[in-house]
Amino acid sequence: MEINIKEQLDLIRADAEKELAAIASSEELEAFRVKVLGKKGELTKVLSQMGKLSAEMRPIIGQAANEVRAFIEEKIKTAKEQIDKLELEKKLSAEKLDVTLPGKAKRMGKKHPSSIVLDEVKDAFISMGFTVASGPEVEYDYYNFEALNIPKYHPARDTQDTFYFSDDILLRTQTSSVQIRTMEKVKPPIRIISPGRVYRIDEVDSTHSPIFHQIEGLVVDKGITMSHLKGSLDLIAKKLFGEDIKTRIRPDYFPFTEPSAEISISCFKCGGEGCKFCKGEGWIEIGGAGMVNPKVLELLNIDTEEYSGFAFGMGLERLVMRRYNIDDIRMLFENDVRFLESL
Ligand code: DAH
Repeated sequence: MEINIKEQLDLIRADAEKELAAIASSEELEAFRVKVLGKKGELTKVLSQMGKLSAEMRPIIGQAANEVRAFIEEKIKTAKEQIDKLELEKKLSAEKLDVTLPGKAKRMGKKHPSSIVLDEVKDAFISMGFTVASGPEVEYDYYNFEALNIPKYHPARDTQDTFYFSDDILLRTQTSSVQIRTMEKVKPPIRIISPGRVYRIDEVDSTHSPIFHQIEGLVVDKGITMSHLKGSLDLIAKKLFGEDIKTRIRPDYFPFTEPSAEISISCFKCGGEGCKFCKGEGWIEIGGAGMVNPKVLELLNIDTEEYSGFAFGMGLERLVMRRYNIDDIRMLFENDVRFLESL
């Protein structure tokens, strides 16, 4: 019996040494430890037979067993150190970061040309002391037409047909509605611009879109004259298009201004000579303007003896097209990324 147990211990030791040599991962090593040294392990099984030994053999075999355990434990420890080291090396080399690899390019978005130009217009007016006002796109007939001296059946309505939700609610056709909304709320001095979207029943072509943007301007104060209007427009045009630009105002008609004017700027291609881009005229119309009709001021209880004002409405798309040399307004609404990126 004693011999038998001793032999088993030797066998366990020899096998352990052999097996350990082949172990290459920490999982395998742990499985091996449990198999040999664990509660139900080989060594424990052998030791459970100790009871059958004679009293004098028990300490001898016990000591031999402890030596085998210590031997195997030591071997496991060394193996573990080696395996840990190898595993770490493997991990490090797998996770190696090659800082010389090219980065992954991210596609950056950018502002739409209309937003770029609008921001510049806003900056220019803000620098002259204007504030930015806004009004609703779904508007009352009163603000869009009636209060602007365009009563029902006025022929000026014909050029600005739109979508009606009911008899008195519509999609606004002009940002001029914000003039009325502002004068209702604020006492002069008033100095605002109001950019926004407007709607008209227009056939789509290279210069027309049923949705477009206007930038309204309104100044009401003591002693405001036409020269203030001309000076402000001139300054804005120069800020947007450079010192060489010329502005032209010619008589026009709008029910809410008296006198009224058409605003044009010199063609950037030919500088005023006349070319294909400006259809031979040398000028490109960008909007309307005028001195606020006293009828409008009176409706809003502004004393026309004391106050006068000028107003203008510019088409944003016209400015953008001129700025970027775009000859078809649809390009600004189709949002073809290839086109936008080319600007
Ligand atoms: N709202 C006019 C239009 O859409 C443009 C305009 C003309 C606005 C004269 C004004 C103005 O403020 O004074 O045709």
